[in-house]
Amino acid sequence: MCGIVGYLGPRKASEVLLQGLKMLEYRGYDSSGIGYIFRNQIKVYKKQGKIINLEGILPEPQAAHCGLAHTRWATHGKVTDANAHPHLSQSGRVAVVHNGIIDNYVTLKEELIKHGYQFQSETDSEVIPHLIELALTQNPQFSPEEAVRWALNRLVGTYGIVAVFADYPDLMIGAKNGSPLVIGQGKDEIFLASDPAAFIGMTREAAFLEDREMVIVRKNEWVTKTMQNEVVPRSAEELSWTAEAASMGDFPHYFIKEIHEQPEALRRAFGHGGRFLPDFGTTKLGGLNLESRDLLDIKRVVFIAMGSALYASQVGAYLLESVARIPASAEDASEFRYRNPIVDKDTLYFAVSQSGETADTIQAIQEIQQRGARVLGIVNAVGSTIARLCKGGVYIHAGPEISVTSSKAFLGQIGIMALLTLLLGRMRILSLARGKELLKNLEDLPCKIDAVLTQASQIHQLARKYLSHTNFLFMGRGIQYPIALEGALKLKEISYRHAEGFSSGGLKHGPLALVGPETPSVFLLTEGDSFEKVLSNIQEVKAREGQIITITNSNDPRVAAISDDVILVPHTEELLAPFLTLIPLQMFAYYTAVELGVDVDRPRNLAKSVTTE
Ligand code: G6P
Repeated sequence: MCGIVGYLGPRKASEVLLQGLKMLEYRGYDSSGIGYIFRNQIKVYKKQGKIINLEGILPEPQAAHCGLAHTRWATHGKVTDANAHPHLSQSGRVAVVHNGIIDNYVTLKEELIKHGYQFQSETDSEVIPHLIELALTQNPQFSPEEAVRWALNRLVGTYGIVAVFADYPDLMIGAKNGSPLVIGQGKDEIFLASDPAAFIGMTREAAFLEDREMVIVRKNEWVTKTMQNEVVPRSAEELSWTAEAASMGDFPHYFIKEIHEQPEALRRAFGHGGRFLPDFGTTKLGGLNLESRDLLDIKRVVFIAMGSALYASQVGAYLLESVARIPASAEDASEFRYRNPIVDKDTLYFAVSQSGETADTIQAIQEIQQRGARVLGIVNAVGSTIARLCKGGVYIHAGPEISVTSSKAFLGQIGIMALLTLLLGRMRILSLARGKELLKNLEDLPCKIDAVLTQASQIHQLARKYLSHTNFLFMGRGIQYPIALEGALKLKEISYRHAEGFSSGGLKHGPLALVGPETPSVFLLTEGDSFEKVLSNIQEVKAREGQIITITNSNDPRVAAISDDVILVPHTEELLAPFLTLIPLQMFAYYTAVELGVDVDRPRNLAKSVTTE
């Protein structure tokens, strides 16, 4: 949560920072602020609410070339102008933006108050500029760099920070521990940010900071160092992301743009065919860094993830267990380490994450690593904390996902899990013929997703029809069960409608009590083993006057007869049907939110990267 940006270069800092903030707004949007050095002073503007509120109070851009900015998702301290960042030191000569949580801030605050410091906010972050200033005051020989290092060595907790100094207009210092910080190297200009999206329109050259490292940025040059003042040689590398990928293009919202990018996102997850070995009916995933022998030794697979990534993991576990015949499960990362889990070396753990920054998932990885087992990543954000923490893994390559609610990353995740299933399955019981068949069916999916996307206006109509309903049930069986959970999550995240997802088998065990004319049920009904069972669950709802929306790939006339509305998706085999049934659910949530006038890409109270536990 929270996004930070720093800039040092020839452009007007406030313009660059504002542009960067807008790209990071997905990380938090309850307040924002900008600070820059102008005529030997740090000017700070901050405002509660979305970035548009900040824009309203910013003066005409001034000839200021060094500054910092922040978009906030409140943890310590209410949503107020005063609690927004940047925070200034007592004298106003040091400004800091911070992403993370300082666990020992109460002790530090008490100490600073004893030294005469007065606090302007209720945040934990404000201790940082005061500590830096205390270091400078008590140690006149200290350079700003030494003062920042001294202050950071006093902190317990997580941080990504940028600091600027009124007396040094050509200096910017960044540091990271547990929260991300990336350096963007442009021509004659340098950026610091929580995510390259903040500067991707200006440069694609980036270098990622590691935990407990600082970056000292001067005009046109930067150097990374440890907290012990040792230089860490590092250079910028070109990112594959493009500015267009991170912009909205002709779409009104990122969410719908990203929904439409899914055929391409899936092709990218498949490495445009480069991850397929068609002659062998299998796949290759070089980043796993595992020998065939290691892969054969795996006795169990456990995915750990949160939110949509957790539901994607449930699809993955289903695929692995049913196709590759390896025991597999998906674990809620936030619960994992609190139940004293059994971690064994024959289990292969995968951390699944779009952002690669989810605190709960990071904690679970550390827990597993401490207990001696191996964790690999299935991650979208290249160079993110999880990608670096894991000793190997597979990038989804979905490109930047900006909308808070996930779409193409989810699809990419299940795409990678299907590849993994083939890889491990072919080493075990999966026949060559079946492997080839699965590969072929996977290859056909992007075109089939395109076909689902053409039904946008029909789904829009449906969203209008059901707009007055405030409760929805989503049901599926087998591999469609996690898709039901994901469909319900999409709707609740962006339309604020109450939506519950559960297994259709669980219907009679409680949820049926909710069924009635006011509560529509969305059923995922695909051809295969569970078809008749789900159909009879639909009957049970119909018998209780529940309205039925069925997402199906079946032309069975009974489906249309019993449903109030049907969305037909192309046929594919049962195990791959989630790739197609998912799409109408995303679009239903989207059009419902649009009709309700909700801020689709930035739903209230949520943040895309949840970097605190
Ligand atoms: C937050 C987001 C969800 C996301 C989850 C996990 O809750 O709002 O959309 O699925 O975090 O995020 P990750 O980046 O780890 O996939």
